[in-house]
Amino acid sequence: MAQQEDVFKKIVAHCKEYGFVFPSSDIYDGLGAVYDYGQNGVELKNNIKQYWWQSMVLLHENIVGIDAAIFMHPTTWKASGHVDAFNDPLIDNRDSKKRYRADVLIEDQLAKYDEKIQKEVDKAAKRFGDSFDEAQFRSTNARVMEYQQKRDALHERFSKALNDNNLEELRQIILDEEIVCPISGTRNWTEVRQFNLMFKTEVGSTAEGASTIYLRPETAQGIFVNYLNVQKTGRMKLPFGIAQIGKAFRNEIVARQFIFRMREFEQMEMQFFVKPGTELEWFSKWKQTRMAWHQALGFGAENYRFHDHDKLAHYANAATDIEFHMPFGFKEVEGIHSRTNFDLSQHAKYSGKKIEYFDPETNESYTPFVIETSIGVDRMFLSVMCHSYCEEQLENGETRVVLRLPAALAPVKLAVFPLTKKDGMPEKAQEIIKDLRFHFNCKYEEKDQIGKRYRRMDAIGCPYCVTVDQQTMVDNTVTLRDRDTMEQHRVNIADLRSIIEDKVSITSLLKKLI
Ligand code: GAP
Repeated sequence: MAQQEDVFKKIVAHCKEYGFVFPSSDIYDGLGAVYDYGQNGVELKNNIKQYWWQSMVLLHENIVGIDAAIFMHPTTWKASGHVDAFNDPLIDNRDSKKRYRADVLIEDQLAKYDEKIQKEVDKAAKRFGDSFDEAQFRSTNARVMEYQQKRDALHERFSKALNDNNLEELRQIILDEEIVCPISGTRNWTEVRQFNLMFKTEVGSTAEGASTIYLRPETAQGIFVNYLNVQKTGRMKLPFGIAQIGKAFRNEIVARQFIFRMREFEQMEMQFFVKPGTELEWFSKWKQTRMAWHQALGFGAENYRFHDHDKLAHYANAATDIEFHMPFGFKEVEGIHSRTNFDLSQHAKYSGKKIEYFDPETNESYTPFVIETSIGVDRMFLSVMCHSYCEEQLENGETRVVLRLPAALAPVKLAVFPLTKKDGMPEKAQEIIKDLRFHFNCKYEEKDQIGKRYRRMDAIGCPYCVTVDQQTMVDNTVTLRDRDTMEQHRVNIADLRSIIEDKVSITSLLKKLI
């Protein structure tokens, strides 16, 4: 575990050193849980967004996109339930004065039981080798069974407390499980209180005329309030979806783990409107579709899992998370929710407008049900970084840090180096870039020895480097170096585009989805 934490620290440092992510307002020592993306980070982030957008809007004839404003009429949030119910249960430790989310403290405790069980399983697997039967071991080993029983009992009690909104019980669980504050090490806990996560601000130029509005805590409501506009102007037939990428804001009390939990973040959400009664079938389809999207990146199926929600949000009749194996455990990256007709019905009620769909097949009008897929861009970015970061021992004894980013997501696709700064090599290298920059992101570098330039490109995950040398000036060939294998071979300049373009395009990922 400590080793994993070390790796995570290195990833955070790497993100800053190589222009991926900086603390916000860095010169003023940062602002809690707010981050800026640097020159490489913004490219990677844009590629993630493009991969998502194209998989939704290009690959589905019945999904269209919108871009709604961050500010919305304040009644939106009354109707959606966020004003009354978008809360986190908070608890303070009186000694450290640190504030925690009570539910997260208990979830961490559940994860500890899982870790203990896994440790026993791993030990036994090593001892028994090929003859190890994991299922049998789990169901017969006394220690594993004891941990499992404790875990299941805690899970049941926790789910009930969440569903009943029983704050006293949440506190009692923390006390009974002897959960200590990681800072003070004590169990001197306050009561659990609810805390609303929405940021407020005022619109209007005079104090008297001003009214309170909120920074949206999810992009989804921008889609719901536009349902009628899009359905009518796009003449959309059910089932159909509306996709959107945009900023969301939450006053997270416990901001931890770098860009995992931020106060300003970005979401990629798609609301899929379906006929009532078909929603669970669509829920299951979208679960598979979204999992396939993640797995097409090639990070290994074992690094993902579904986690069904213990407590359904006020709007949902089914919900699951796609979790990714981060260095700090399996964590939610995306939520898939069956939101019933809650949001559209609420907006109909609060706005006084009829928000329905006339079904030409059955000649009836009804309020569509909704399946939502909602993924955080920043969490996706973090999972990509965590999986790609690699410290490699080389045969010559050196180590190199390489970001094994999927080529389609890499910020820079091709680096072009003149071997030396003379004999027309820089000009030739620039010529190659001038030709290829219309097709993918290229970078020119002439400083330092070639080895150092390769390392810099490895560190930002650039999949290909080209070197212009003496021979280039004679026969128009260059060496093409592969980031992962570090192998080099000579290719014609004229062939560079066809060799590289396919491998680095978002299309290469999209093709895996159909
Ligand atoms: N519209 C549904 C919704 O917002 P959510 O589970 O609260 O559902 C969806 O959020 C996704 O947004 C999460 O799976 C996560 O990736 C991302 N997300 C939520 N809160 C976040 C935060 N504070 N920082 C970064 N990403 C966040």
